[in-house]
Amino acid sequence: MTEAYKILFVCLGNICRSPAAEGIFRVKAAVHGLSVDLDSAGTGAWHVGHPPDERMIEVAQARGYDLSALRARQVDIGDFYIYDHILAMDQSNFRDLKDLQPADGKATLSKMLDFGVGDDVPDPYYGAVDGFNHVIDLLEEASDGLLHHLRAPNA
Ligand code: 4NP
Repeated sequence: MTEAYKILFVCLGNICRSPAAEGIFRVKAAVHGLSVDLDSAGTGAWHVGHPPDERMIEVAQARGYDLSALRARQVDIGDFYIYDHILAMDQSNFRDLKDLQPADGKATLSKMLDFGVGDDVPDPYYGAVDGFNHVIDLLEEASDGLLHHLRAPNA
């Protein structure tokens, strides 16, 4: 049996974008028979221990992704020694992770939309419900790209 891909999704609060990325990628990996060990985290600590934002839970549920059991945590330097891939939702998250990244960490650090379309997954927290659906659109597309990359990294 091949080892599971260990992947950590990171945003600012770990209550909107990264839990959605985790939930979406879990479903897509299962559908494609890819063995994964997933988690998500925030660069900030404001929401540690909280479930995802209820707007994100609802919008994700309606599209087939159950995020209700997830709880926020803050990213830690130790994550760079545990995960194979750490994926930042936007440029600001990426910069914060770069600052934290130890020289001997094993994780590759990328932006989620390196595997999708566009640059940043926009923070939906202060916006309308549309923004949450847009986040899911972007994450579904990038998840397909990430799946493809993991199966054929040099393609
Ligand atoms: P997320 O969204 O980074 O996608 O989880 C946010 C959630 C909360 C806050 C910022 C962004 N906040 O400032 O509390």
